Amino acid sequence: MPTAVNVPSAGLTRTVQVPLEGRAYDVLIGPGLLAQAGRIIAQRLGTARYAIVTDENVAHYHLATLEKSLGGEERLLGKVVLQPGEATKCFRELQKVCEALLEMKLERGDLVVAFGGGVIGDLAGFASSILRRGVRFVQIPTSLLAQVDSSVGGKTGINTPQGKNLIGTFSQPSLVLADTDVLSTLPAREMRAGYAEVAKYGLIWDEGFFSWLEESWRSVFGNDVSALTHAIETSVKAKSDVVVRDEKETGDRALLNLGHTFGHALEAWTGYSDRLLHGEGVAIGICLAFRFSEAQGLCPKGTAQRVTTHFRDVGLPTRINDIPGGRADADELMRLMAQDKKVREGRLTFILARDIGAAFITREVEPEAVRAFLAREIGG
Ligand code: GLY
Repeated sequence: MPTAVNVPSAGLTRTVQVPLEGRAYDVLIGPGLLAQAGRIIAQRLGTARYAIVTDENVAHYHLATLEKSLGGEERLLGKVVLQPGEATKCFRELQKVCEALLEMKLERGDLVVAFGGGVIGDLAGFASSILRRGVRFVQIPTSLLAQVDSSVGGKTGINTPQGKNLIGTFSQPSLVLADTDVLSTLPAREMRAGYAEVAKYGLIWDEGFFSWLEESWRSVFGNDVSALTHAIETSVKAKSDVVVRDEKETGDRALLNLGHTFGHALEAWTGYSDRLLHGEGVAIGICLAFRFSEAQGLCPKGTAQRVTTHFRDVGLPTRINDIPGGRADADELMRLMAQDKKVREGRLTFILARDIGAAFITREVEPEAVRAFLAREIGG
């Protein structure tokens, strides 16, 4: 069970440990953590010098608070402020970050602070894992998606024209600080996109959590800090459990990819552009996975509709044709799916469902059945 720790607003702060042997770390969740980041990091990881990697949006709202809390110029080696957006997660920006950190004379004992959403976390985490053969990094995730998923579990990397996250490492952070206050400056669309990853945990393993979300999503999106903290904590706990069982994704960590095989193909098809945020691709992908499961007779009738209704209530897209700016093509999506990291001996891995809270991994899916399903979904 998560335990309270000695931090400000301790009554509201929750801690989830990721108890990996020799590399255990905590995820602190709650309000007001950013302003205390310097003290919390020093208490847990010792006094260090810091380099911050962030993006322009996060810098605009929150960088001054973080810098002040990290102790000002004395300990700050420097900062790298990148353009927001998925396009930043690329070789060119990786080179820029690595060279900037080396110019700052970042040493092995220093800390990289990845301060942003999933793009910054993945990119800065990757840079940290290859710089000087590995320097420690702290994740301070500023989007809901990063707080519940990408900042925890050690997946780092960049995208290439061939697909998403095809270059990267497994490298665990030393600490994660998920400040719920920071989410108040997140655009509503980004908040909804992150919510798809929250609902995902219920849909994979925990029908009770999904039912609670169906009841409580308005509180999660409103100003109810305890509902928001509960949603994040439950998600992070589920993620921690699976990461400890299967850090390198040789087994059931792949369940976290529910919706991602379809979703990544949709993201590649839209050119990782503003037409489709990652979480929106996941939302559509999850609805597709449930509709496909139902069409294959794997889960009870009405299950997919329950999922779709919830995502629609929240304001998420649920169909391929909800993506603005052009009609998809089933063959093109099949081609893009073939680039998935989970392809083994030419066979795609799918995460399908026997029910809500009962997802499973399968390689026994006929490509022609998927192609025909996608063509029906697109209406072509
Ligand atoms: N985002 C999926 C994972 O961390 O495994």
